[in-house]
Amino acid sequence: MRHFLNLTDAGAHGIAAMLADAHDRKAARAGFPKGRADADAPLAGHALAMVFEKNSTRTRVSFDMAIRQLGGSSIVLDAGTMQLGRGESVADTARILSGYADAIMIRTDDHAKLEEMAHHATVPVINGLTDASHPCQIMADLLTIVEAGKALPGLKVAWLGDGNNVLASIVEAAGLMHFDVVAACPPGFAPEEEAIVAASGRARVVADPREAAEGADIVVTDTWISMGQAHADAKLAALGPYQVTPDLMALAKPDAKFLHCLPAHRGEEVTADVIDGPQSLIWAEAENRLHAQKSVLRWCFGQIG
Ligand code: CP
Ligand code: NVA
Repeated sequence: MRHFLNLTDAGAHGIAAMLADAHDRKAARAGFPKGRADADAPLAGHALAMVFEKNSTRTRVSFDMAIRQLGGSSIVLDAGTMQLGRGESVADTARILSGYADAIMIRTDDHAKLEEMAHHATVPVINGLTDASHPCQIMADLLTIVEAGKALPGLKVAWLGDGNNVLASIVEAAGLMHFDVVAACPPGFAPEEEAIVAASGRARVVADPREAAEGADIVVTDTWISMGQAHADAKLAALGPYQVTPDLMALAKPDAKFLHCLPAHRGEEVTADVIDGPQSLIWAEAENRLHAQKSVLRWCFGQIG
């Protein structure tokens, strides 16, 4: 049983296989209408159940289209309208969904629920974001970086802002794929440095945003207030100096690229001229959620890696 709860589940070999598969499949269907299945329809007859405890645009639509393009079908479930939302256990939900669908994707506010779902499911379970990590996002980010002509080993990735779930998955990827992450986070909003070091050995946390941006190949940020977090003025104030601006981008390499998982708040974590500027790859990054997740699904079913 292949669950995709974190990037480590696939390992470097699995990630490399998924990136190659995503690249090839994307090229093979160039020019197709979005709703047409891939010529080989490798997951024909397979159904994906998706459970959302939190809002989503990209994850929901890209997984829905991903399974369709692979020849399968999907069921999208809002946790609030399921019995899960009125107290049915995650364990029982996992057993029930395993009887109807061939794979389960869940977006939840608590990583422990994802792990419980995987423990009790008899089909592959995929992490569609938790409070702790967002591995599907980072698969799309890695695909976008490689498409931009940058080999992963040895890259410097600068993270600016909140020490959140997306950063955790970038750090995990760094350890597996041998690139370096310098995360500039304000005191109080940084991940535990020991946790970062233990997770990858290729990442470090700094307080100075300029130190992170200096010489970076890739500059990444994310919203300052993640889903489920209270809107706190003190947090916004602390993060102010970590906004990605043209001045910070000027410290990075001249051919540096900007990534953001979206949704974005222009004027908070990034200025409009950076996110909408020539170094930004956000639209390719968002589209690559679809292509990368098709390969995540194929990996879960043992078709690659
Ligand atoms: N980046 C991302 O996961 O977007 P959604 O919240 O819209 O799914
Ligand atoms: N860190 C953000 C990512 C959204 C895709 C959140 O958890 O809300």
